[in-house]
Amino acid sequence: MRQFEQMDVYTPNTANGITNARDKLRANQILSRHNIALPATTFVRNRADLRPAIESVGGAPVVIKLLEGTQGIGVILAPTVKVAEAIIETLHSTKQNVLIQKFIAESRGRDIRALVVGDRVVAAMRRVASGDEFRSNVHRGGSVERVELTPEYEQAAVRSAQIMGLKVAGVDMLEGNEGPLVMEVNSSPGLQGIETATNLDVAGAIIDYIGNQVAFPEIDVRQRLTVSTGYGVAELLVHGDADLIGKTLGESGLWERDITVLTLHRGTTVIPNPRKGVVLEAEDRLLCFGKLEEMRSMIPERRRRRQKVRRLPKEPIPVSDVAS
Ligand SMILES: Nc1ncnc2c1ncn2[C@@H]1O[C@H](COP(=O)(O)OP(=O)(O)OP(=O)(O)O)[C@@H](O)[C@H]1O
Ligand SMILES: [Mg+2]
Repeated sequence: MRQFEQMDVYTPNTANGITNARDKLRANQILSRHNIALPATTFVRNRADLRPAIESVGGAPVVIKLLEGTQGIGVILAPTVKVAEAIIETLHSTKQNVLIQKFIAESRGRDIRALVVGDRVVAAMRRVASGDEFRSNVHRGGSVERVELTPEYEQAAVRSAQIMGLKVAGVDMLEGNEGPLVMEVNSSPGLQGIETATNLDVAGAIIDYIGNQVAFPEIDVRQRLTVSTGYGVAELLVHGDADLIGKTLGESGLWERDITVLTLHRGTTVIPNPRKGVVLEAEDRLLCFGKLEEMRSMIPERRRRRQKVRRLPKEPIPVSDVAS
C-alpha cells in the first residue's frame, strides 16, 4: 500500500483502515470507543470467564462468532448458556477465537447494508433471511430488497466508515429497538448484489468520488503542521471544572496564546472551523494547532507515579523466608 501511495496513486481506503476493518475484534473496539451503537459484544479466552461473559451480553440465546468467519459461516445462535459454553469450549480447544454477542431478536433475521462513498450513503439494501434462519446472508438463502434509510441509519453508517478510515465501505447494521446497531464495516464491499437490488450505479458513484478527490490528495496534516519548530497539533479536552465552560471561543484566550482551533468535537458531532461565537461546553474536545509549550500547559499533568518502592529491610532476609 505504501509503495502505491508513494507512486502517487490515489486509494480511497488506507492500509490502516483496511487492516482495522478486517479484524472484527479490533473494529468493535474502535467503533465502541467512538460511541457507535453496537450489539453488546465480549471476547473471552479463559473457561472461567465464559459464563459471566455470556451473562454480561444478556444471557441466552446468544450469538457466537468466529473472528474470521464470512458469509454467515461461523455465526452460531446458541439457545442456552450450556450449549453456548460447550460450543465456545470446543472452538477454543481447536485454537479458534470467538466473539460473544447479544442476540438482537427484534432484528428478526434481517440486516441493512449501506454502501458509503465519501460522506454519504449512495445505496442501501435490506437482506432478509429465509424461513427460520436468523442469518440474512445471501449465501445462506437470504433475499435482498432496496430500502430508503432514515437519517439516523445514514449517519451511523457514514460515521462508522469515517471512524474506520474508509472512504468506500459497506456498513452492516441490525435494526434494534433503539435504532441502528452496527455489526460490521466492510472495506471491500461487493457491488454486484447491491447494484442489482437497488438498480443504482454504485461503481459509477465510486469513480465520480475518486475523480473529485484527486484534486485534493491526502496530505499528512500532522507532519506538515509540525515543520515549524515549537508548533504542532494537539487535542485539548475541556474539563468539567475548567473555567473555559460557558465562554465563547473568542473569549477563551486561546487565540492570544497562539493556538488555533481546527475542529471542535462535541459528543458525536464535529464543528469544523469553529467560529469566535461558539460557546464551550464541558467535555468538548478541541483539535488545535499552535505553540506546543502553550498547549502543554493546558493538558493536565499525568498522575504522578508512586514515588518509592518498598524500602529494603536492613537485615538480610532469613534463608527460610526466601525459600517459601
Ligand atoms: N447479534 C446478532 N443478532 C441477530 N442477528 C445477527 C447477529 N449477528 C449476526 N446476525 C445475523 O447473522 C448474519 C451473519 O453475521 P455477520 O455478518 O456478523 O457474519 P458474516 O456475514 O459471516 O461475516 P462477514 O459479514 O464478515 O462476511 C448477519 O447478516 C445477521 O443477519
Ligand atoms: Mg455479514
